[in-house]
Amino acid sequence: MDFAAFFRALLLCALLPVATHCLHIPPQDIIKLLPSYDYIIVGGGVAGLVIANRLSNRPDVTVLVLEAGGLDSSPDIITVPGLIGHGFIPSYNWNFSTAPQEFLDNNTRYYDQGHVVGGGSILNGLIMTRGAKADYNAWEALGNPNWNWHHMIHYFKKSERFSPPDLCSDQADTLHIHPQKAYHGTKGHLKVGYSNFFYNQSANFLQGLSELGIPILDDPNIGISAGASIAPASMNTKKQSREDSRRAYLDHVLNRPNLHLASEQTVTRILMGPAVTSPNFNNSNPLKMAYGVEFATSASSPRTKITCNKEVILSAGAIVSPALLQVSGIGPAAILKDLNVSIQIDLPGVGANFQDHPMVHAFYNYTAPGLFSTKNLTGATLQQVEQEYFTNRTGPWTHPLISTIAFPHLSHLLSSSSFPNLLSSNLSFSLPPHLAPYPTLQKGYLAQLKLLQSLLANPTVGAVEVMADSIGTLTVSVQHPLSRGFVRALSPDLLLNNSLNQTIHIDPRYCSHPLDCDLLLHGLKLNSRLISTSPMQNLQPRPPFPWNMTDDETILSEAIRSQIVTEFHPSGTTSMLPLEYGGVVNPRLMVYGTTNLRVVDAGVIPLLPSAHLQAAVYAIAERAADIIKKDERLKNGEEEQEGPSHHPVPGGEGNGIPIGPGVVTGPQRNNHH
Ligand SMILES: Cc1cc2nc3c(=O)[nH]c(=O)nc-3n(C[C@H](O)[C@H](O)[C@H](O)COP(=O)(O)OP(=O)(O)OC[C@H]3O[C@@H](n4cnc5c(N)ncnc54)[C@H](O)[C@@H]3O)c2cc1C
Ligand SMILES: *[C@@H]1O[C@H](CO)[C@@H](O)[C@H](O)[C@H]1NC(C)=O
Ligand SMILES: *[C@@H]1O[C@H](CO)[C@@H](O)[C@H](O)[C@H]1NC(C)=O
Ligand SMILES: *[C@@H]1O[C@H](CO)[C@@H](O)[C@H](O)[C@H]1NC(C)=O
Ligand SMILES: *[C@@H]1O[C@H](CO)[C@@H](O)[C@H](O)[C@H]1NC(C)=O
Ligand SMILES: *[C@@H]1O[C@H](CO)[C@@H](O)[C@H](O)[C@H]1NC(C)=O
Ligand SMILES: *[C@@H]1O[C@H](CO)[C@@H](O)[C@H](O)[C@H]1NC(C)=O
Ligand SMILES: *[C@@H]1O[C@H](CO)[C@@H](O)[C@H](O)[C@H]1NC(C)=O
Ligand SMILES: *[C@@H]1O[C@H](CO)[C@@H](O)[C@H](O)[C@H]1NC(C)=O
Ligand SMILES: *[C@@H]1O[C@H](CO)[C@@H](O)[C@H](O)[C@H]1NC(C)=O
Ligand SMILES: *[C@@H]1O[C@H](CO)[C@@H](O)[C@H](O)[C@H]1NC(C)=O
Ligand SMILES: *[C@@H]1O[C@H](CO)[C@@H](O)[C@H](O)[C@H]1NC(C)=O
Ligand SMILES: *[C@@H]1O[C@H](CO)[C@@H](O)[C@H](O)[C@H]1NC(C)=O
Repeated sequence: MDFAAFFRALLLCALLPVATHCLHIPPQDIIKLLPSYDYIIVGGGVAGLVIANRLSNRPDVTVLVLEAGGLDSSPDIITVPGLIGHGFIPSYNWNFSTAPQEFLDNNTRYYDQGHVVGGGSILNGLIMTRGAKADYNAWEALGNPNWNWHHMIHYFKKSERFSPPDLCSDQADTLHIHPQKAYHGTKGHLKVGYSNFFYNQSANFLQGLSELGIPILDDPNIGISAGASIAPASMNTKKQSREDSRRAYLDHVLNRPNLHLASEQTVTRILMGPAVTSPNFNNSNPLKMAYGVEFATSASSPRTKITCNKEVILSAGAIVSPALLQVSGIGPAAILKDLNVSIQIDLPGVGANFQDHPMVHAFYNYTAPGLFSTKNLTGATLQQVEQEYFTNRTGPWTHPLISTIAFPHLSHLLSSSSFPNLLSSNLSFSLPPHLAPYPTLQKGYLAQLKLLQSLLANPTVGAVEVMADSIGTLTVSVQHPLSRGFVRALSPDLLLNNSLNQTIHIDPRYCSHPLDCDLLLHGLKLNSRLISTSPMQNLQPRPPFPWNMTDDETILSEAIRSQIVTEFHPSGTTSMLPLEYGGVVNPRLMVYGTTNLRVVDAGVIPLLPSAHLQAAVYAIAERAADIIKKDERLKNGEEEQEGPSHHPVPGGEGNGIPIGPGVVTGPQRNNHH
């Protein structure tokens, strides 16, 4: 096909009515895909499905979502809140592992991530927390105008369909469940609310923390994270079942003829080329654009290429999105050279600034006679509980694994005289020895360190999280880690051997800054004080070794190093930061140096909030959809004045699709690689 024919084909497909009911396209129906779409979304997880819903609400815009996983079949293990923690369906999990953790015990860690339509929201624990106002204001302070609490709250509310608790007032009072209406949305897509069953131990936990001077929050989502509370859950309160991004944002719009979801398709590359129609064309620094994507069902199946008319939006999550950028020629030059891909954009931040909440499960086994916990859900009791759930949507199965949490502030962990010392001696504004040797990344880290110091000193911000289940696990995690890790592709073909676990190197480098492990130790000591309070003593905690070694810092520190696992909050790997701070996307979530490639997922978070991440990711994606629409309107406005088409002009030769990894075909407007 020659150049002109390619364009006739594009035009023709634009004029043809879009396929009548496109819905879901499994691999065997791939022939139904259009040759091009206005927007191609890579990854149908939390962020991807929000964008797909919002962009496809205009019937004249075509949207394709490519998702590596399949549609879940609504098994109980996913939909029933009470079954959280009973494991994952293997094919819904990417099966990632980390690199050996050299600052811990040199062992690898599992790194579960959703591989299914809905992504992490199909596997997650349903906990809905937003974090502190100051957490988001720090994003703005890092050089992202208008990315602050004030703007986030608008999108937290926009994403949410909040139901107040359906509890008797006694129970609501005992558990301090008094959400503030002004901070919640009731017209959004994502259902959020409370289960109608709570274990009594929740009240012991809240009272115990209260005795230690930690405030109980009536609503944890109004901009103060420091305190203890019952968190709401992403759940359909009527059915008392999991609410996820597929059910909230996709299922009811899959009848839109302009929205296609191709499942079981793994994107292997973004097709990049020069942005020949860029209005800001600059010969010495040419912009690049994405003109399509390449994908396949498996390593052995043929690679399909589809072009985009407007934009590619990368929503493959904080692990895969940076790896996809790298194999597409966007990343640190040294990594691109190792991968043998031609350099499109030398961008050191791609895969760097990796942050996660390191977490330790500590056991304080409650043994009080007559206590009712999830351990009692066996035999005849289990049958009864199951029946009650399916008949009446009440009882223990409505309760997710975790509802009861606290985000203690540093002053709750340490005496007020020693915590300023800890901050000044640990955050001495020196570079950690293991940070990647790029001046921009180092500058960005130092800017983050300054903000981390003020966040840790801020009395409204939690330093660690403690999550309580019903049996006596008090899980501690660090909310504002100082450690930074990285993600890098190991092969230009991510599907090699059918295992992205083999082609993506994931290294969170937990405790590469030792303060993170120190904070976990302080969190465990808080646990020890907590179980000594009288409300908690009523539960008769009997911690096994090593959690009973409350005074032995050596043993506890060793336990921490062998037991740290992920809280499943990878982020930062495609940070929204200024270029001079090692940023990957600008505040419009556009990849630097490109005209039409955005990243919208947890990877753009430049600094972790003191919260679980889904509320933030839903809100970021809602905002991104508004940004994309606004930019499109601006572009059209400009176009009317200036004339030139913004339609992508592929490389020129043949059908304009490059052959080798990152090889740009056709006339080059510059000699940039
Ligand atoms: C086990 C677990 C428990 C969690 N618990 C909670 C919780 O209780 N509360 C909370 O707030 N948060 C929780 N989280 C975190 C939350 O779910 C994530 O922060 C959120 O899902 C991130 O959204 P995302 O859009 O960035 O990525 P994801 O939701 O992971 O979506 C990425 C999608 O892209 C797809 N994809 C990846 N690569 C490709 C490719 N090459 N081609 C095509 N598709 C691709 C994936 O299959 C996936 O569907 C949990 C996460 C996990 C994994
Ligand atoms: C993860 O591993 C299990 C078996 O251990 C397998 O069934 C599943 O398909 C794997 N998931 C992916 C995405 O490859
Ligand atoms: C993933 O890869 C790592 C490193 O190669 C390996 O140690 C681990 O066992 C793999 N995990 C799975 C589930 O295959
Ligand atoms: C981990 O490996 C490194 C390098 O091989 C070694 O120096 C270190 O002592 C090891 N740490 C532990 C806890 O084994
Ligand atoms: C073109 O890009 C170069 C390199 O980034 C920059 O120094 C120069 O100012 C740019 N010129 C214009 C006209 O924008
Ligand atoms: C890059 O090419 C070199 C030389 O052909 C080869 O040895 C190396 O394995 C390639 N790297 C990757 C990651 O494929
Ligand atoms: C304590 O609880 C943990 C986690 O549930 C369990 O693995 C362990 O066996 C329990 N120990 C005792 C002594 O009951
Ligand atoms: C729950 O099980 C424990 C033993 O595991 C038992 O002591 C307790 O009485 C049971 N609770 C109830 C309410 O039956
Ligand atoms: C909670 O405690 C009350 C009063 O002691 C008791 O009646 C009730 O059965 C308990 N509920 C659970 C779920 O343990
Ligand atoms: C459902 O609720 C009704 C009314 O409260 C009750 O009588 C019935 O026993 C419940 N069913 C089950 C299976 O628990
Ligand atoms: C942090 O500061 C405290 C108090 O000054 C000190 O005891 C501790 O060793 C420091 N930790 C690190 C990792 O520097
Ligand atoms: C793919 O599998 C082959 C054969 O098992 C192995 O030699 C190679 O290292 C694997 N490639 C990657 C990137 O893991
Ligand atoms: C801690 O628990 C272990 C059993 O898990 C026990 O052998 C040990 O004596 C206990 N130590 C203390 C200090 O209570």
